[in-house]
Amino acid sequence: HEEPKPTFAIITCSDTRSEKEDTAGAALEALIAERGWACVERVVVKDDRPTIAENIARLADNPQVDVVLTCGGSGLSPRDVTPEATRDACEREVPGIAEGMRAYSMQFTPRAMLSRAICMQRGNTLVINMPGSEKAARENWAGVADVLPHAVSMMA
Ligand code: MTE
Repeated sequence: HEEPKPTFAIITCSDTRSEKEDTAGAALEALIAERGWACVERVVVKDDRPTIAENIARLADNPQVDVVLTCGGSGLSPRDVTPEATRDACEREVPGIAEGMRAYSMQFTPRAMLSRAICMQRGNTLVINMPGSEKAARENWAGVADVLPHAVSMMA
């Protein structure tokens, strides 16, 4: 049987990037469209834990959104707070998705080990932390995209 097409929202977390400079978020939006899937909203917010958590909650609670992708803020710098904000907004962890993206990414760079990205569920929405560079976002998407239709169908 055919699985339904997942729908997305993208939250880029960056102190330095405007909407125009958000090449990683734009690349993710294009990769979603290439598969014939929809992205209902893309926003750029500051690296501020409560702001990121509020936006995750707002978009996850939108019935039109199956998957929230965060972009950036998952590294080791003190400003990187996206995984913590994700934990603030979500209930259940789905560790295999983050593990799978890191394992897949090791073929490109050992720096994949520096990702603190997590994946969690808020209600029937999946929240996935993606890295903030365009190259890294593209590579992580390639590692995770195929599994998303089945993931979304399980949460219904
Ligand atoms: N994953 C892939 N596939 N390719 C990359 O270049 N960069 C890593 C990692 N994951 C990278 C990657 C690096 S250097 C960091 S710091 C983390 O993602 C977190 O990135 P972020 O702080 O932009 O979220």
